[in-house]
Amino acid sequence: MNSKPVILSGMQPTGQLHLGNYEGALKNWVSLQDKYQMFLCVVDWHALTSDFNDTAPMQDRIFQTAVDYLAAGLDPAKCAIFVQSDVKEHAELHLLLSMIVPTPWLERVPSYKEKVESLGLDSYGFLGYPLLMAADILLYKANAVPVGKDQLPHIELTREVLRRFNALYGPLFPEPEGLMAEFPVIPGIDGRKMSKSYGNDIRLADSEEDTIKKIKKMLTDPQKIRRGDPGRPEICPVFALHKVYNPGLDEIQAGCTSGALGCVDCKMKLAGYLNESLRPLRERRKELVNNKKYVINILEGGAERARQKAGSTMSQVREAMHLKRPDV
Ligand code: ADP
Ligand code: TRP
Repeated sequence: MNSKPVILSGMQPTGQLHLGNYEGALKNWVSLQDKYQMFLCVVDWHALTSDFNDTAPMQDRIFQTAVDYLAAGLDPAKCAIFVQSDVKEHAELHLLLSMIVPTPWLERVPSYKEKVESLGLDSYGFLGYPLLMAADILLYKANAVPVGKDQLPHIELTREVLRRFNALYGPLFPEPEGLMAEFPVIPGIDGRKMSKSYGNDIRLADSEEDTIKKIKKMLTDPQKIRRGDPGRPEICPVFALHKVYNPGLDEIQAGCTSGALGCVDCKMKLAGYLNESLRPLRERRKELVNNKKYVINILEGGAERARQKAGSTMSQVREAMHLKRPDV
């Protein structure tokens, strides 16, 4: 028996991961893998809530996401890394939880309200997005869920749902807590939250040249037009990234504030630090992409381990809900 506390987390296979995914979640997973029993999934069913009309790229996206997990330093000997749809228990628990969750609980989740308006998503499955996430978490009786800040309302919903389950059928699930990374929100090149859907991201898979090109395009303080103009680092997304990647922040802060440091030089310094810091990960990434079989084997082994834990939880759930035929 493994007595370590359990972590479950996941990301949608939207393709290659970006710095926000890495700094906001993935890097934290890597740092937690010695202290926790880890289950990390690529949540392909969640991706269908938005990409149901374009499923052809799915398998490649799953592969790229798994490659990013491994390149970031997740160790398959310590973590079960798997694909959600390989473990059918996620669907079964989602269905059972859907019987006990009142729809208004789902309608008031902030991400639901936002995306119904901005993306016009209105399917039954999309309404159930956070409930599928609750099923992911509860299936492993997770104690902690390391994610970016935007995911906290989903963890809160998970707690509400499990309290209802425990009250109806007896105590089965522990309450999970959200674990925040050091940098909860990473800005993208346009200053908004870095996101795949805004097209403002810098990817782990980007080449050093592409990284430089993207950083050159970054927005800065609009009042600082040329070198000599004093800038306001606290509102500048380039400075926000310096905070993450540059060990010598004071020099940038002083140079920007006084005006001595121009934005172009400031960006080139950032690109240098960023590329240097990502170099080992990018090297590992290239090797993994060329070693498809190795990556797929890890996903299959991970699913096997996940199924053991998920199977045992489901057997308890069926019993608690009187869905198990008694022995005759
Ligand atoms: P995207 O917005 O690109 O679609 P996801 O919503 O799939 O990203 O996020 C996957 C994980 O990465 C989540 O845990 C999320 O909180 C984290 N994350 C995404 N973007 C950022 C960001 N800009 N800063 C910090 N964390 C982020
Ligand atoms: N909703 C998460 C995101 O967009 C992905 C996710 C699905 C997840 N199931 C999860 C995260 C379970 C943590 C735990 O990033």
